[in-house]
Amino acid sequence: MTLRITVVGTGYVGLVTGVCLANSGHDVTCVDIDPVKIDLLRSGRSPIYEPGIEELLRTTLDRGTLRFATPNAGWRDLIGDVTFIAVGTPMSPSGAADLSQVRAAVSALCDAADRPFTLVMKSTVPPGTGATLTGRFLAAARHSIAYVSNPEFLREGKALEDWYHTDRIVIGADDPAAVMVMRALYEDIDSPIVVTDVASAETIKYASNAFLSTKISFINEIANLCDAVGADIDSVARGIGLDARIGPGFLRAGIGYGGSCFPKDTRALDFIATLNGYEFTLLKSVIDVNNRQRLLPVIHLARALPDLHARTVAVLGLAFKPDTDDVRESPAADIVPQLLEEGATVVTYDPVAAPIELPGARRAASVWDALEGASAAVIVTEWDEFIGLDWERVRSVMAAPGIVFDGRNCLDGATIEAAGLTYMAVGRRGAHRAHDRC
Ligand code: UGA
Repeated sequence: MTLRITVVGTGYVGLVTGVCLANSGHDVTCVDIDPVKIDLLRSGRSPIYEPGIEELLRTTLDRGTLRFATPNAGWRDLIGDVTFIAVGTPMSPSGAADLSQVRAAVSALCDAADRPFTLVMKSTVPPGTGATLTGRFLAAARHSIAYVSNPEFLREGKALEDWYHTDRIVIGADDPAAVMVMRALYEDIDSPIVVTDVASAETIKYASNAFLSTKISFINEIANLCDAVGADIDSVARGIGLDARIGPGFLRAGIGYGGSCFPKDTRALDFIATLNGYEFTLLKSVIDVNNRQRLLPVIHLARALPDLHARTVAVLGLAFKPDTDDVRESPAADIVPQLLEEGATVVTYDPVAAPIELPGARRAASVWDALEGASAAVIVTEWDEFIGLDWERVRSVMAAPGIVFDGRNCLDGATIEAAGLTYMAVGRRGAHRAHDRC
């Protein structure tokens, strides 16, 4: 069945949703208030760095199943049989999700609707939002609008793979007809479908991200313990991950999680729990551990190099993870200012990442430029370029003692040490410890 679909918001989630549904043969219009973005997309270029997205964008544009529009001429003609909301829900200073863009979009659509349609929430919104929006906007519309919560579980850098090979599709709706429409929409995807009520679907999204964040903070605490007792986190993670009840995923220790989702969603869930009179103690600890973990490189370097103020440190990686240009909540944004605070000279480098405000630090044009004369290098992002470095050459350009702090436990410590460098990591046996002086 071919459906007429509209996706409001061409950010990361909206663009992937629109392009993939158009690729399935649906008739898709992606809408955004930013005319520059719309022009770029119409020309077949993607504003985000995501492997495979540009190819699919061009294919669907050529095939005529994908269109882009701004709402300048009004919303009425833009509303599809199924209209997705995929606008941003950034973190507000209180930690709550800022729903102003969601409210504006839902309000505009409900006001403009001249016939019934299905409104699907793809933006990550806290539990209870669907009920609030329905009571406030959908109930006041002239036509019946069915509300569906359909959270996304896409990882940046692997979005297309995750769309077509997802572990589950979640549909939260009270209207059985809307559930049928959603099933038809995803009929080409082979995946279990969880059909539930709106509040439960909203909670599944937050609980998933909170659980994965918990796994990361847990393994990071175990890694810190490994450092203290002389155990090796790689063996420990493998040993526990082989237990099918635990699973091997998200047990990579390091300097903690970043990105546009985990930090924001854990804080928003904590906020919504507090607002509902519930003290989510475990989640608060997960957030605290992650905040502390980011500063590990600074703690290690300050101990190993008492004259850190007279040293240059290369910070390698600004993206919050590899295969993305996204610098939102990158650990580098905490590490760099703290190194500067310690008096160090900081040079950063990233092969892809978007510009990031790091006053006082110099951004190098190449990894070699960044490493030249640096006494220490901190791996913040596990880009292949860093994993494949020629460590003999690294040793020759760095200043003594040549510390490599592997914030992602992604390098081979033995090779680095054999090249005459000092290898530090998070909970890895054989790596130098924070209390070692160089
Ligand atoms: C995450 C979830 O994985 C997606 O399922 C979800 O849809 C998405 O958030 C979202 O809510 O939109 P993403 O933020 O793209 O996806 O990134 P992940 O690959 O999950 O990594 C998040 C952070 O955790 C990164 O900083 C990564 O370096 C870190 N991480 C991940 C670890 O430190 N250790 C691990 O073992 C795994």
